[in-house]
Amino acid sequence: MRDAELSRAFLDWYDLHARDLPWRVGPAARAAGVQPDPYAVWLSEVMLQQTTVAAVRDYFHRFTARWPDVEALAAAEDAAVMGEWAGLGYYARARNLLKCARAVARDHGGRFPDSREGLLALPGIGPYTAAAIAAIAFDRAETVVDGNVERVMARLFAVQTPLPTAKPELTALAARLTPTRRPGDHAQAVMDLGATICTPKRPACGICPLRAPCAARAQGIAADLPRKLAK
Ligand code: ADE
Repeated sequence: MRDAELSRAFLDWYDLHARDLPWRVGPAARAAGVQPDPYAVWLSEVMLQQTTVAAVRDYFHRFTARWPDVEALAAAEDAAVMGEWAGLGYYARARNLLKCARAVARDHGGRFPDSREGLLALPGIGPYTAAAIAAIAFDRAETVVDGNVERVMARLFAVQTPLPTAKPELTALAARLTPTRRPGDHAQAVMDLGATICTPKRPACGICPLRAPCAARAQGIAADLPRKLAK
């Protein structure tokens, strides 16, 4: 299957099965012209690092109820933000969150930069988060690679190289599939597929929209990939 057909399969599946997430503008609303809120996208992506969607939902609601935009968050007391973050763990993320909010408020007039490079220059925004915000909030053709995406690529193309050695190869495969139309929905489609169907254990290959072209499934090794270097 050609790359464009694989990308189409991800988007077609996403149009029917996108998860309903509080920070997400779903495919129908997106098609109707609704723009995602970069603040919501940024906040959710920072919260989702090392934390599950299920755990993040309530925190996201509390944060956005108390601080509805980046300028409100920038003006918050450190202790108030740390208090709302309590329980999410990795407290350096909360400190960086505030630094970033204050930089956006002070240096960018309260508007997030709309490119990967501009986002990367902000405190606490690394390559993953910069690509995710650029793609999801601004529909830039950036490739978003997290653990879910690595697993989907390793299986789809039966990459036998173990992680972390395989990372550049998996990133290149993900980049090949990134479409110029709807790159933000595509990024979310691959992540949702990884989270709900192409799961680490017992992947649901029987209902996977990519089962026909999936090389690992053809070889009967989907659940064994990605391989990991013995620690
Ligand atoms: N995991 C982290 N960010 C995500 C997103 N935007 N969509 C789905 N899963 C995610």
